[in-house]
Amino acid sequence: MLSVCLLFLFSLEAFAQNLTVKHKLKIISAGLCLLPFFWACDGAKESASPVEAQVENLLKRMTLREKIGQMNQVSLGNVDELAVAVENGEIGSMLNVTDPELVNRLQRIAVEKSRLGIPVLMSRDVIHGYRTIFPIPLGQAATFNPQLVEDGARVAAIEASSDGIRWTFAPMIDVSRDARWGRMAESCGEDPYLNAVMGVAMVKGFQGNSLDNATSIAACAKHFVGYGASEAGKDYNSTFIPERTLRNVYLPPFEAVAKAGCATFMTSFNDNDGVPSTGNTFILKDVLRNEWNYDGMVVTDWASATEMIPHGFCKDRKEVAEKAVNAGVDMEMVSGAFLENLEKLVKEGKVSEKSIDNAVCNILRLKYRLGLFDAPYVTTGQSVNYAPEHLAKAKEAVEQSVILLKNDKNVLPLGGNVRTIAVVGPMADAPHDQLGTWAFDGEKSHTQTPLAALREMYGDKVQIVYEQGLAYSRDKRTDGIYKAVSVARKADVVLAFVGEEAILSGEAHSLADINLRGAQKQLIDALSNIGKPLVTVIMAGRPLTIGDEVEKSDAVLYSFHPGTMGGPALADILFGKVVPSGKTPVTFPKMVGQLPIYYAHNHTGRAPSGKETLIDDIPQEAGQTSLGCTSFYMDAGFGPLFPFGYGLSYTTFNYDKMALSAGKLKKDGTLTVTVDLTNTGKYAGTEIVQLYVRDKVGTVTRPVKELKGFQRITLQPGEVKSVRFDLPVSDLSFWNIDMKKVVEPGEFTVWIGTNSDEGLSADFEVVD
Ligand code: BGC
Repeated sequence: MLSVCLLFLFSLEAFAQNLTVKHKLKIISAGLCLLPFFWACDGAKESASPVEAQVENLLKRMTLREKIGQMNQVSLGNVDELAVAVENGEIGSMLNVTDPELVNRLQRIAVEKSRLGIPVLMSRDVIHGYRTIFPIPLGQAATFNPQLVEDGARVAAIEASSDGIRWTFAPMIDVSRDARWGRMAESCGEDPYLNAVMGVAMVKGFQGNSLDNATSIAACAKHFVGYGASEAGKDYNSTFIPERTLRNVYLPPFEAVAKAGCATFMTSFNDNDGVPSTGNTFILKDVLRNEWNYDGMVVTDWASATEMIPHGFCKDRKEVAEKAVNAGVDMEMVSGAFLENLEKLVKEGKVSEKSIDNAVCNILRLKYRLGLFDAPYVTTGQSVNYAPEHLAKAKEAVEQSVILLKNDKNVLPLGGNVRTIAVVGPMADAPHDQLGTWAFDGEKSHTQTPLAALREMYGDKVQIVYEQGLAYSRDKRTDGIYKAVSVARKADVVLAFVGEEAILSGEAHSLADINLRGAQKQLIDALSNIGKPLVTVIMAGRPLTIGDEVEKSDAVLYSFHPGTMGGPALADILFGKVVPSGKTPVTFPKMVGQLPIYYAHNHTGRAPSGKETLIDDIPQEAGQTSLGCTSFYMDAGFGPLFPFGYGLSYTTFNYDKMALSAGKLKKDGTLTVTVDLTNTGKYAGTEIVQLYVRDKVGTVTRPVKELKGFQRITLQPGEVKSVRFDLPVSDLSFWNIDMKKVVEPGEFTVWIGTNSDEGLSADFEVVD
């Protein structure tokens, strides 16, 4: 800070060189007057900027009570009581006010009646769309298309801001490797790099070109940090992530969005190795503020501050406020312990007024950056929700997120010989459930289901017969299955839409069994026995254990809950108007017991050779060491059902002629990797070309593979393209034995391929 001030005075002096002494003195004394402002806010980076001056000016006029009021966020409740609290300057932000008239009414009280006229920041969970619902984030990640994900977040921001919402609690970039955890649905999957790329895309989309644009909404990176590693996949559970893994796996997406200007961060519910995030000075101060120089605002999760009491980390609400603010939290979501206790804590010297000032600076800075002081009200009257271009973008997102897992004998796309289609299953016409989790504002009346879309878009070409079979995904009654089977017998092809209802994934919706629920297994079983081609379409919030169903189906399309436009997109995919290109953003387990499962696991000392004996082949009374003493499951075998990055197309691609620009590189070098990609099939299609790296030997064990880049390449049949990746050697850095982020010289392998399990490879060396 001192250096910034000196620099400021220095430049004032330089600027003043051509002026008269009188002018010089005036300017320099003006500069000196501003100095205390610069000192007050620790987080301020561009301290000379108008925003910082405004923040400081306002801060000076605030009472301690008013400052603490800014640190208080409440949810929509009794409006009269809220109005009084707003007028008294006791509310800095509100969540869940989505009626624009009410937004304006409350805002008017803040701006016109509260002593300082500080606007309230209106917030909401706009996670994968506001009214127009896009695929759940896990589905968006399957597109491997950051531009499309950015566009989706932009649509969400335009719609949400039109109702007065200026802050969303997204992106959720918790690296998620355990499909039992219901919140995997909200994440971008298991990979740190993919979460980082998609998180940055969402931040850009939500925040637009400039935060102060009326259609921009502040993003919130959540949940900081490690929440995705909740033990046993059970929500809110403890995590045990050592610092190196935290830094190598869980922190990188957060660092990426912080650098991309993500306006806010949210602390997570979990305690990591005994320290709840909301009271964790290491992550909130040492890492976020000091290492990353973050000047945004930090909010707690819903009551995560007062949950430090049941955690056994704080004895009462007063200690909650003390520990949270001292750890670096700026705003408390809903539990009110700050408002209740901070004045006392400051008087007792347990929390410094400087800490309060810092928090308030971070909050006010955001409000200024959002332009809330200049334009606090929302323009009402003109709805932008469900605009045709929003629906078109949502459809495109589904088209690219659907993953073709199997396509025996090219059953798909449905050809001209198909005259009658049987549509069955609980997800064929489930307008609420296909929206997925966290779709608070999506309205099922606007959902376009597969059944409706097939009838509307293709009903003139084929006859569509429908029998639901099961009323909903958990339905255990089997009587409907017989009806579905009899309808299926009349058709040329059977389309079975199964999966999970929306309520089976998301927050607090963890499962210990991730098979298809209810009688869905029996439904697929019965349909597979009638001798008709069976196409199974699965809509879910997580990868399910669907080995049997894949086996029994001729073709399988996996669609994470696709949102409003799921139907039309799936209809076009089934009929080949759109060629699938999605890839799995998470590893699909064969059995739940394999969890957590992820491709980027460390090398063990006992990698399986593939020759180990599996459970059905073990002779009775076999000797203890006769199976092969390696790291595998006797019953689940060696690998997953589908690896990370997996997905087929209606066409085929060939990888050839991989070449490296050099075999040896210095640490400041860049490796160029090229490969020829050919579309060897009959359809124009898009392949997601993936680049993985292995660091063969490190001062600590390293992952067997790590994703370092990907590209979507669209080719016409027969077309060949040279695909090029430039990989800076600095991207090979990691937190090593000395807890330093470095590139360690040595040998590496690089792969280019169609998924994390296949590809062409070559070796190179990094030298000092
Ligand atoms: C969730 C957050 C969410 C918040 C506000 C919490 O329960 O964990 O992700 O943003 O509620 O609704």
